[in-house]
Amino acid sequence: MAKPLKIAVLVSGRGSNLQAIIDAIQKQALDAKIEVVISNKPDAFALERAKKAGIEVLVIEDKIFKAKDDYEKEIIKALKAKKVDLVCLAGYMKIVGHPILREFKGRIMNIHPALLPSFPGLHAQKQALDYGSKVSGCTVHFVDEGTDTGPIIIQTSVPVLEHDDCDTLSERILEQEHKAYVEAIKLFSEGRLKLMGRKVQITSAH
Ligand code: GRF
Repeated sequence: MAKPLKIAVLVSGRGSNLQAIIDAIQKQALDAKIEVVISNKPDAFALERAKKAGIEVLVIEDKIFKAKDDYEKEIIKALKAKKVDLVCLAGYMKIVGHPILREFKGRIMNIHPALLPSFPGLHAQKQALDYGSKVSGCTVHFVDEGTDTGPIIIQTSVPVLEHDDCDTLSERILEQEHKAYVEAIKLFSEGRLKLMGRKVQITSAH
């Protein structure tokens, strides 16, 4: 893999995971460069974080496209122009469709605030609380056709405490998300993630 790893981050909102990636790069804990941050929402706070770090931003609003494929083709154009190695979804609130998957299969990661395959989809933290789980956490995975179904790269567990509400549990999980996402990108940049069917083998460092 050419160094530094060229990353694109796709966002829709707050961007705390984006910030964790920015911080890790600035601290030289991650040998990567964020080539572009793409948001489907013009008011996403993630865009402010990117601009502050001097990263190019692009707003591609999904709602102005009649067909989802056309929206995705526009994203692909930007990703290709930047010769991106890895696409990181970080609070990107859309299901990735076939056009992007075809171009970047095995090179798209997502972070999810639960221990998959439990509680996929929206409001994962609330799902875990409502279910009465005693443990939850986060999952970094490669993206496939399904919703949060792709091969798992890293999982970190956190306890669900007696008096947790959605905010306290989300906060405890988020802290781990930031570490897990950076670690997964680092492993990818070191060429240490080997996709074998639906399993991801982490090979040892050279
Ligand atoms: C995170 O909880 C992430 O796991 C989920 O959406 C949230 C995004 O948060 N996919 P942020 O925008 O990175 O702060």
